[in-house]
Amino acid sequence: MCGIVGVTGKDNAVQILLKGLKRLEYRGYDSAGIYVNDQDGHEYLVKEKGRIADLEAEIGSDVHGSTGIGHTRWATHGVPSKANAHPHVSADGRYYLVHNGMIGNFAELKKQYLSDVTFKSDTDTEVIVQLIAKFAQTGMATKAAFKKVLNLIDDSSSYSFLLIDNQEPNTLYVAKNKSPLLIGVGDGFNVVCSDALAMLDQTHDFIELIDGETVIVKPDSILIEDTDGKRIERKPFHVSTDASAADKGAYPYYMLKEIDEQPGVMRTLIKHYISEDGSIKIDDNILQSLHQSDRIYIVAAGTSYHAGLVGKELLEKVAKIPTEVHVASEFGYNPPLLAAKPFFIFLTQSGETADSRQVLAQVNEQGYQSLTITNVENSTLSREATYTLLLYAGPEIAVASTKAYTGQIALEAILAKALGELRQVATAADFDVAKELTKVANGEQELVDEKKDIKKIAAALLPTTRNAFYIGRSIDYDIVQEAALKLKEVSYIQTEGFASGELKHGTISLIEKGTPVLAVITDKHTAKHTRSNAQEVMARGANVVFIASRSLAKDGDQIVLPDVHPLLTPLVAIVPCQLMAYYASLQRGYDVDKPRNLAKSVTVE
Ligand code: G6P
Repeated sequence: MCGIVGVTGKDNAVQILLKGLKRLEYRGYDSAGIYVNDQDGHEYLVKEKGRIADLEAEIGSDVHGSTGIGHTRWATHGVPSKANAHPHVSADGRYYLVHNGMIGNFAELKKQYLSDVTFKSDTDTEVIVQLIAKFAQTGMATKAAFKKVLNLIDDSSSYSFLLIDNQEPNTLYVAKNKSPLLIGVGDGFNVVCSDALAMLDQTHDFIELIDGETVIVKPDSILIEDTDGKRIERKPFHVSTDASAADKGAYPYYMLKEIDEQPGVMRTLIKHYISEDGSIKIDDNILQSLHQSDRIYIVAAGTSYHAGLVGKELLEKVAKIPTEVHVASEFGYNPPLLAAKPFFIFLTQSGETADSRQVLAQVNEQGYQSLTITNVENSTLSREATYTLLLYAGPEIAVASTKAYTGQIALEAILAKALGELRQVATAADFDVAKELTKVANGEQELVDEKKDIKKIAAALLPTTRNAFYIGRSIDYDIVQEAALKLKEVSYIQTEGFASGELKHGTISLIEKGTPVLAVITDKHTAKHTRSNAQEVMARGANVVFIASRSLAKDGDQIVLPDVHPLLTPLVAIVPCQLMAYYASLQRGYDVDKPRNLAKSVTVE
């Protein structure tokens, strides 16, 4: 989703902004732009529809500056176009603004204050920059005009803003509400970004901002004010991620790199959370809070939701605690009747998903305890939850999530073991999580080393089909939902992940000659049933591929999975499914890392 970068106090502002925007490319966008100025009054605005490379091609060698702002846009109000790309400029040419988020009452503000202004775009953002200029024209100072506009924006809105007044060329005006934004601290310069990754080449020290604060950033000062105008002092936090961890290395695509990294993620999690003697290193306060609750609510979106489905199996079967899993965008507006002592777990790779965040805000208001499991240290959901556990998976750049899914499940397994031990349930004592995850890591390694077979199956099964099915039962139903999401995200094949027993109750009508059906069989209790359901679709012409655990495999099964603990089979079964999606996407000619219409981090509801 939209990305923001800004810099002040560096001679090569253009290069810094472009590099920052490139680092945010993975989040998904459809147009981009920069504005830069220098101390001599030169200023440049360049915007382009399409990729950063297209923007770069538009930037002439004369474009230079020491202060600037940049943006990648993921269209919300108005189609992707050069006119709708940010930065937006006020009609009098004085103010330049980039924005992430959505202004709920932009139409009302436009009608009330700006009926005499000619707009150049269809965006909600342009209303804000025009309004700031309007108030400034009445004699207000920029800071006052900016604050006045912030006060007019309604509660349904979300924003992070970066504003430049060309009468103060080395100053960035900054504000945020619900959308992420950080100030990066430099020596003689400062930067602003919606994701630390964008500016790791410049600094590793970042200051978080709280909703409602406004900040004035100059090359050698950062002035933070709360809503009442009171000065706030806040120390930066250090981000240890190495910028090179976000590079592709020798890989053609991030998605392939991240699929291959999964065995390493398992090993890193074992190292971080399990001592040599097998004891688990999770903060006792987290475990006690979980122990005191009578029901766990896992809230998440997309792939993280699917990791939550497996988390429920683990928490209920290993730790014996009732657990529900909810889609965040549904939960927030139609919550279930809660148990007496609920505990909330937010699963989120990015830690920024707006749908999950709005649920966390309600959970906090009601005074319940929560844990965020995320890959991004100091992300919004991490800061706002009571507790955080990190995945240590390294930056995940491809839009389609892979290593975060397996990392989340592995960490849920470790958490279930620790909680089960505290609850003194026998199932936990029998679950040697370190040994089982090591087996998983080896199994995943075996699978990522066998890519050629998957590539061939994808080429035979998926090059032209319009639709496909993944089917399975029980824990295999959890797996196929994620497998289907992966395939549809990157190959645009309409794919359903279906409970195989339910097919005959309606959906089997979609099966015709040649329909690809991938049957996942890792659960011994339902293996026979899934095979019968596969026979039913074969009888109707489907092209069936079996993906089965070694101990349940039959002659002729196309993909055989290493045997692992029955509650951890998603960690191995998903690997060939991820590879299947990867190859199908490439074989159909798509950009697998940046699928159309999708954003990595969805910061609007
Ligand atoms: C977006 C991404 C998905 C991701 C979902 C939840 O839709 O495209 O890949 O699963 O957000 O993201 P989170 O960062 O909260 O796990």
